[in-house]
Amino acid sequence: MQGLTFDDVTLVTQYADFLPEDTLTKSKFSRNIDLNIPFVSAAMDTVTGSSMAIAMARLGGIGVIHKNMDIALHAEAVKKVKLHSNGLIQEPVSFLETQTVEELLNYKEDKHLPFSGFPIVDAAGRVAGILTAKDLKFCNDRRLKLKDIMTSAILTAKEGTTLEDAYKIMIDKKIGKLPLLCKNGELAGLYSFHDVNALITGTSKLENLDSKYQLRCAAAISPYDFDRAEALINAGVDAIVIDTAHGHSKGVVETVKELKAGMASSVDVVAGNVGTAVGAKALADAGADAIKVGIGPGSICTTRIVCGVGIPQISAIHAASRAVSSDVPIIADGGIKQSGDVPKAIAAGASSVMMGGLLAATEESPGEKIMMQGRRFVVYRGMGSLEAMKSGKGSRERYSQGDVEDSSQLIPQGVEGRVPYRGTAGSVLHQFAGSLKFSLGYCGSKTVPELQSKGILYRVTPSGLREAHPHDIQMVKDAPNYRTV
Ligand code: XMP
Repeated sequence: MQGLTFDDVTLVTQYADFLPEDTLTKSKFSRNIDLNIPFVSAAMDTVTGSSMAIAMARLGGIGVIHKNMDIALHAEAVKKVKLHSNGLIQEPVSFLETQTVEELLNYKEDKHLPFSGFPIVDAAGRVAGILTAKDLKFCNDRRLKLKDIMTSAILTAKEGTTLEDAYKIMIDKKIGKLPLLCKNGELAGLYSFHDVNALITGTSKLENLDSKYQLRCAAAISPYDFDRAEALINAGVDAIVIDTAHGHSKGVVETVKELKAGMASSVDVVAGNVGTAVGAKALADAGADAIKVGIGPGSICTTRIVCGVGIPQISAIHAASRAVSSDVPIIADGGIKQSGDVPKAIAAGASSVMMGGLLAATEESPGEKIMMQGRRFVVYRGMGSLEAMKSGKGSRERYSQGDVEDSSQLIPQGVEGRVPYRGTAGSVLHQFAGSLKFSLGYCGSKTVPELQSKGILYRVTPSGLREAHPHDIQMVKDAPNYRTV
């Protein structure tokens, strides 16, 4: 038996009759969910909350919101993502008609609001008009009341108006803002043409959107965690991820079957983690819409050391992907250190990569940001670390220790530490997606599926690996896409 991982292999160049810029990074997360970039943020409490999930979907990937919180909060986090940019501003900034222009301008400046076009309401909360940028431009007295300068003959629509209908009305009537009203005339939301147009005409092409133009979002559950699954589905989640350290197990198989047969017939069910062909096949046979692969490759994992168990990641991906049909995508979970690991995972058979540490290091992660000796760091911890297991049942359940109440009896399989701050998720994924396009070019593959089918991995020796890294030089500056820590 031989297990290979990222540093044991390199990709072989192949003839290309196109340029890297002509390649496509589109791929699949699960049977029915596409990705514009093959990146997924990990279901960890220092990686994916709603801010990370929003950032991931806006960049074209997807985030899996962690489960180390109670069900109500979890469902709220999903709702936050789903309602983030569906074109409808849920709680628009509005002003009372008796307020002055001065008050409005002070508020706008104070809050750095980049837009104009505010609904104006009367004392009973009913919409009385809109204050447009034009109204403000031609106002020469800041003491005037808003009701004296607002546009009061305005078009409104009923609460519940869809994005498509709002688009038609706004195009038809040439208006920039469309307030939605409840039955009693109160403000129920606002469509802004700028956002609606971007969503409908695809100016925001990269974003990962569902059929209702809402950001896509996934969320984790434990085996038999049906109450949580139901709440997440009601909140609009696109995929449920059964997130365990040992997916080739009765609990995971039964949970997949039960979800697919019942409540989750309309959402995708992802299951894992496995590291073998039989494990992947068992989950696919149960009906999983994607299989998550990774036993112990993660940067915070100690499973291979503490339990002596795990499969080096390239071999695990290769075995799992060969065991299931091509409509069940493989998510390579853990162990990504550099952007060059991504095309290697794809050539081994993965459709996407899940990243923990690399994204924990970004602005959008929930991990605590700290300063040390003039450098910024972010706290990152394994879900099997003592700290994570103490703070949440979801984490203990991932490691089959959900019933352990006394924390001195816990057996951790992960560590807590810190990672150097890397800026925004967008800046990290820009480098990763950009590098992937070059990899595709080098490998003569225009698309991710093409690299999956024709990529050739070569075994490298330790001296081959030494040659691959910068050598015979003292690095004095970090490159934006090359770091050793
Ligand atoms: P990276 O390498 O991206 O890995 O930081 C993230 C993945 O690691 C898994 N994970 C763990 N594995 N003990 C483990 O053995 C842990 O405490 C732990 N926490 C997370 C998980 O699959 C994640 O996506």
